[in-house]
Amino acid sequence: MIVLENIQKIYPNGFCALDDVNLKIAKGDIFGIIGYSGAGKSTLIRLINRLEEPSSGAVIVDGEDMLALSYQELQERRQKIGMIFQHFNLLSSKNVFENIAYALKIAKWDKSKIRSRVEELLELVGLSDKIDFYPSQLSGGQKQRVAIARALANHPKILLCDEATSALDTQSTASILELLKSIQKRLKITIVMITHQIEVVKSICNKMCVIDRGRVVEKGLVRNIFLNPKSKVTKELIAHLPEYDCKEVLPHIKDAAHTYELTFLDGNQNEPIISQAIKKFDIDVNILFADFNNFSKKSLGRMILEIRGDEKALEWIKSHNVEVKSFLYNLKDER
Ligand SMILES: Nc1ncnc2c1ncn2[C@@H]1O[C@H](COP(=O)(O)OP(=O)(O)OP(=O)(O)O)[C@@H](O)[C@H]1O
Ligand SMILES: [Mg+2]
Repeated sequence: MIVLENIQKIYPNGFCALDDVNLKIAKGDIFGIIGYSGAGKSTLIRLINRLEEPSSGAVIVDGEDMLALSYQELQERRQKIGMIFQHFNLLSSKNVFENIAYALKIAKWDKSKIRSRVEELLELVGLSDKIDFYPSQLSGGQKQRVAIARALANHPKILLCDEATSALDTQSTASILELLKSIQKRLKITIVMITHQIEVVKSICNKMCVIDRGRVVEKGLVRNIFLNPKSKVTKELIAHLPEYDCKEVLPHIKDAAHTYELTFLDGNQNEPIISQAIKKFDIDVNILFADFNNFSKKSLGRMILEIRGDEKALEWIKSHNVEVKSFLYNLKDER
């Protein structure tokens, strides 16, 4: 749905905000772009709808070269790319109805269809009873719902979110994220989420990239990156997750040859696999480390276990969507 190729962005003052950025975002992704303040996130997302022009590189959206479009064509394509912002950007002198209707008027909707479309959108975002309210009469979370309704007015294929939850408290953040997730499911759109909050990525994104000083330093599936972060920034950003350190586990290992690292891949968090294996194969298990995390309703976990007994137990565990590696191998890896 979105391809960025060899993007470089140098601002007129000579500052290089993005350097050699390559990204592919597939249809239906909820793609998280995370990085510290000043990393270049807003610059990057604004390239997608050409609110910002790259200095070099290609921007392809839904198979179309965005940089080759005429002004008129660009205006039309932009209607298919909704955008929401940290501070909602609502017109304070207009009520909820007018704020949303505005997007439809610009897109030259038939007047007779505007009211029913606005009502439909308000129902989608759960704000039907606030149609006559002014922005000053709404909470932050409600304002963002209006902004989401406005962004979806013209049936976009893509929704760009630049720090959409950064100005909200924890509860409103959670409800906006739930809303975005359900919208993605229902309307099958592609969502790009810019954020500096790792929890946002963790709770709703399927793929992510990390940017640091204008460069993409890591990209891939959220669960893979959380499980095995490579760059320093990524490690810092997910630092609140208990990361295990081989050196800490090491002194407790009595029999390295029988020590294994198990990675529980998604989908099997509710099955008592280890306890079943103990009963079935009469093995002895010593838990040296265990850690589980939830990613958009899927759980991922890692355990370090000493397992003695029947070798078939390992095969049986593996067949239950659990990756089993010898811990010795892991040490050679120098993680
Ligand atoms: N118009 C501009 N001219 C020169 N430099 C700019 C301009 N706009 C942004 N920059 C610089 O580019 C870098 C990236 O800015 P950008 O707004 O993309 O960062 P960000 O990751 O969105 O940060 P934040 O999390 O604070 O929103 C910053 O160092 C910023 O100072
Ligand atoms: Mg920004």
